[in-house]
Amino acid sequence: MSSLFRKKSISSVMQNLDVADDINHSSGLHRTLSVRDLTFFGVAAIIGAGAFSSIGSAAASGGPGVIVLFMICGIACGFTAMCYAEFASRIPVAGSAYTYAYTSFGEIVAWIIGWALLMEYSIGNIYVAFAWSDYFENLLNLMHIHLPSWLTQNYRSAHAEMGDAWNNAPVIGGLHIIFDFPALLINFLITWLVYVGVKESRNISNIMVIIKLSIIVLVIVVGIFYLDIDNWTPINDEGVESFFPNGFKGVMAGVAAVFFAYIGFDAVSTMAEEAKNPQRDLPRGMIYSLVICTIVYIIVSLVLTGMAHYKSLAVGDPLAEVFKMHDVGWMEALISVSAVAAMTSVLLVFQMGQPRIWMSMSRDGLLPKKFQTIHPKFKTPSFATIVTGLVVGIPILFTDESFVLDFTSIATLFAFVLVCGGILLIPRREKEAGKFHMPYVNAKFIYPITIVGAALILMLNGATKNYFPDLFNINLQAEEATYKISTLIFWGLCIVLSFFAFKRNWSLIPLLGVTTCSYLLTGMTAKNWLWFFIWFGLGLIVYFLYSRKNSRLNTEKA
Ligand code: ALA
Repeated sequence: MSSLFRKKSISSVMQNLDVADDINHSSGLHRTLSVRDLTFFGVAAIIGAGAFSSIGSAAASGGPGVIVLFMICGIACGFTAMCYAEFASRIPVAGSAYTYAYTSFGEIVAWIIGWALLMEYSIGNIYVAFAWSDYFENLLNLMHIHLPSWLTQNYRSAHAEMGDAWNNAPVIGGLHIIFDFPALLINFLITWLVYVGVKESRNISNIMVIIKLSIIVLVIVVGIFYLDIDNWTPINDEGVESFFPNGFKGVMAGVAAVFFAYIGFDAVSTMAEEAKNPQRDLPRGMIYSLVICTIVYIIVSLVLTGMAHYKSLAVGDPLAEVFKMHDVGWMEALISVSAVAAMTSVLLVFQMGQPRIWMSMSRDGLLPKKFQTIHPKFKTPSFATIVTGLVVGIPILFTDESFVLDFTSIATLFAFVLVCGGILLIPRREKEAGKFHMPYVNAKFIYPITIVGAALILMLNGATKNYFPDLFNINLQAEEATYKISTLIFWGLCIVLSFFAFKRNWSLIPLLGVTTCSYLLTGMTAKNWLWFFIWFGLGLIVYFLYSRKNSRLNTEKA
């Protein structure tokens, strides 16, 4: 049993890195990235399908109040970024959260995180590829090039809709040939680009970041002229003007979509072995990029919900749509170009991150040795890059947008909870000049008082009324029950954390990270949880059949 929680020591991880660095001089990865590159890299990973696409559905359910969700997610990611930064400055290796968990929680949790990160990096990219395809098709249409609908839609959506794509698709042996060709194409191109090297990829991603930030600033500046402040207090179904037309529940329904928009700052940590000064620059890159994006998101969601009635934002291309509504045609074209650029850079960053995590897992014996192969000429993890391309590419044929969006967000939030928790478990260290150091605030009293205060406020507002009797009502709908059970678990966790915060003088920032990310998990639906547990179980099977036996901690001991 204890072998499940066997840990790598930080010093052994760093020794491996020294060996790897020696090898790097002759044949390994290149150390070329500065703090500016890393910040750009973060922005490249963060602003993409979330800002250009999923923001629409979140705003349509939450109304203008979705801004609050952007703030909550920004705060949760801020705490998490501090924890990532602390880990990255202690253990600057490419494995990111996976390696961090290996030193703090032990092997089984490290494996689970590695498995969850597969969802964030690879499955997340499926959503981005679909969104990329939507905007690319927009662009083609503006140029009067029209692809048949069976080449631009995924099979599942076409089957559900039974519309144009289904009716016009070629049929071979009873099977309708329907697939998202642009999504497959961009995945192929990105895989190739990552395969040929980080330097080339970096240059392209820097250009794309500049394009997307410029266009977003333009959206804000031009959008301000079309604001109608009445849109910020729309009339809800009860006939009352409200910033939260569907209540806070409506806001929380957008959690997967909004949180997805923030994913990416953590990908900076996978660049540890290519950064010039990782212990100083990785934390800065992560935090700077997150701050930039949080500001951008809050302003963009304000502008978006001010330009149009929230209900009209439930489209795949909301930023282009609001300008179309106001007849600003030139903005529609510009936004489509920049959306394509933005999403290309997201795809690039994640497709670079995934092979590097696998490389670390392979070094530890949890994945086959093949995943460590470095291309002799391009110096990239070549085999792992191709496998990533396949893991993203093949499901494009079988899945749809909303499924992958939810799946990515739940697994990533789960990984974030573990990363923040990991910081609580590793010993504090002395301050060292030139390295990032997370500020320590003793949570002994502050945390329990905050939790009790929050609970009291909720009780006084009647939020807990009928909670317990309802919970045992077997007729409760699955969604309602999932929400209540996960909220109950959340409060239980807060009580446990309060106890340890008091007893062990835990640090406030990681505690708030665990708390805010767990809170966001309470917004996930029953279906999300079901798939998450299936995925989780599958990961455990692979671990027990292969990784546990082949782990270096096992083989080297023998
Ligand atoms: N945050 C990234 C995006 O929105 C994943 O595309």
